[in-house]
Amino acid sequence: MRIAVVGGTGVLGRAVVAQLAERRHDVRVLSRSAPAPAALGASHHRVDVVTGDGLRDALGCVDAVVDATNTAGSGRKAAPVLVDGCRHLLDAEAAEGVEHHLAISIVGIDAVPFSYYRTKLAQEAVVEQGPVAWSLVRATQFHQLLDLVFTTTAPAWILPAMSFPLAPVDPRFLAQVLADGVEAGARGRLPAVAGPTAQPLDELARAWGQARARRTLRVKLPLKGAVRRALAAGALVPDDEAVRGGPGFEAWLREHPGRQLSVARART
Ligand SMILES: NC(=O)c1ccc[n+]([C@@H]2O[C@H](COP(=O)([O-])OP(=O)(O)OC[C@H]3O[C@@H](n4cnc5c(N)ncnc54)[C@H](OP(=O)(O)O)[C@@H]3O)[C@@H](O)[C@H]2O)c1
Repeated sequence: MRIAVVGGTGVLGRAVVAQLAERRHDVRVLSRSAPAPAALGASHHRVDVVTGDGLRDALGCVDAVVDATNTAGSGRKAAPVLVDGCRHLLDAEAAEGVEHHLAISIVGIDAVPFSYYRTKLAQEAVVEQGPVAWSLVRATQFHQLLDLVFTTTAPAWILPAMSFPLAPVDPRFLAQVLADGVEAGARGRLPAVAGPTAQPLDELARAWGQARARRTLRVKLPLKGAVRRALAAGALVPDDEAVRGGPGFEAWLREHPGRQLSVARART
């Protein structure tokens, strides 16, 4: 199949491109900047989903699209890429005769009132009401996201810690499920994808601190109201129907040692 991975240079996109290339599909990577190094066996096409530039050319003769675009920031800042960009993408797909659009979303977005999650819900609605046959997979947080959060707060000697559960997933495992989904054709909402186990954020923070040899204080996040209640009720962990697998967070940390402090500094 000829498959375009929009956002194919991102954390998830790179894993999807690698998985599809391994399965011998003809893969196109679509993004604003070229990947470095160029993804093996995949061609790069410069596009911008916000303006629509390059989309029609890049999608000619493509059978299916995996949308792995994303952008940093709050929901309002993310909307031009995730919502308007998704609309532009679907219009270009329809014009070029693409048969299947595979969307990626997040477990629990209808329960936790984060502004980014509201934007993801709006993106889901655009896909469901759009002009192209679709599939949609919700996934849990990627290991890289937790690593980034902890890496960001650790220099101030703190790690965010609370007892609400998360089931972080390795994007390489998600990429396998997504590749199966692309090959199977448009089937609407598919089971959610999660890592092998659900653990309290506090335990994940402790595992990170040990793996990275960082002495820190674990500090409770000042969450209130509906957000706190939803997280405490396990909104970010999917139901029993979910597909679970890949390495858990601790195994992933062992595989990705990262930059460690000297033991002397870690002990102060
Ligand atoms: N991160 C998580 O923990 C997590 C968990 C569950 C689901 N998800 C979902 O998974 C998807 C991918 O997330 P990610 O964390 O892998 O994203 P990411 O690493 O931030 O990558 C974003 C990709 O989007 C591209 N992009 C951004 N703006 C663009 C534009 N205007 N036009 C074209 N391409 C653009 C980027 O390339 P350029 O900047 O070069 O254009 C990059 O390839 C998102 O839908 C996200 O909501 C993420």
